[in-house]
Amino acid sequence: MSECILKLENVVAGYGYGPDIIQNIDLELNKGDIKCIIGPNGAGKSTVLKAIAGLIKPRNGVVTFKSENGDINLSGMDTYEIMRTGLCFIPQDRSLFNTLTVTENLAMAGYTINDKDDLKNRIEEVLETFPRLKEKLSQYAGTMSGGEQQQLIFARAIILKPRVILIDEPSLGLAPAIVEQAFKHIETIASDGVSILLVEQNARRGLSSSNYGTVMDLGEIVFEKAADQVLNDERIQELYLGKRKKK
Ligand SMILES: Nc1ncnc2c1ncn2[C@@H]1O[C@H](COP(=O)(O)OP(=O)(O)OP(=O)(O)O)[C@@H](O)[C@H]1O
Ligand SMILES: [Mg+2]
Repeated sequence: MSECILKLENVVAGYGYGPDIIQNIDLELNKGDIKCIIGPNGAGKSTVLKAIAGLIKPRNGVVTFKSENGDINLSGMDTYEIMRTGLCFIPQDRSLFNTLTVTENLAMAGYTINDKDDLKNRIEEVLETFPRLKEKLSQYAGTMSGGEQQQLIFARAIILKPRVILIDEPSLGLAPAIVEQAFKHIETIASDGVSILLVEQNARRGLSSSNYGTVMDLGEIVFEKAADQVLNDERIQELYLGKRKKK
């Protein structure tokens, strides 16, 4: 059996004084796995990621990160503390610093690394993974092509060597070729043992790069199986994968 690295138990969360948006969320992520959350608009998919990342605090339940130094209860911690434990969140609006160069963007992502040589080594390491960026080090991030920006986003994400990466809608607003590239990066990063929890509107594409699929509706998890089983489930195909009912 694979080793569980992130565990949600009965998590409930919502915004401000509003109603509970997600309820009874039980979810496990294993080491090196890619798990894809799918479901209709407004189902609460992004809210699950935000509750894990601490952008909203769970109202009930527990989020446990099984770090190398033991279990850490993330529920109640602030985002910056959570990110230091070994989690990384790539939100829907991917937020590069457009008016900073590639090098500066990478340095910003590694700002918690105090040792200058260490930071330099980490930047060199990620540039091995994304060699295209090496030729663009002094270019402003905002002037790079969509595909190059995508690489910089992933390079930033892995600079602190996270053990879990949460990604909201990696395909959003990207040309098809760049979507393919993004999923290749996701698979490469996971093959190094990093666990990835992603939310994806393009359910077929998301599931085809994932080991597990989780279907959400109305703030709850309604179905969870191996990704290929989700892809082949007739009911799920009809409801969420755009396949018409046979007459
Ligand atoms: N900041 C917020 N304040 C209040 N309500 C919010 C906020 N963000 C989301 N919601 C509400 O929470 C519900 C779930 O939203 P969420 O963004 O998690 O859905 P989603 O499954 O990610 O949908 P989509 O596929 O459209 O991205 C929606 O009804 C939404 O209106
Ligand atoms: Mg969303």
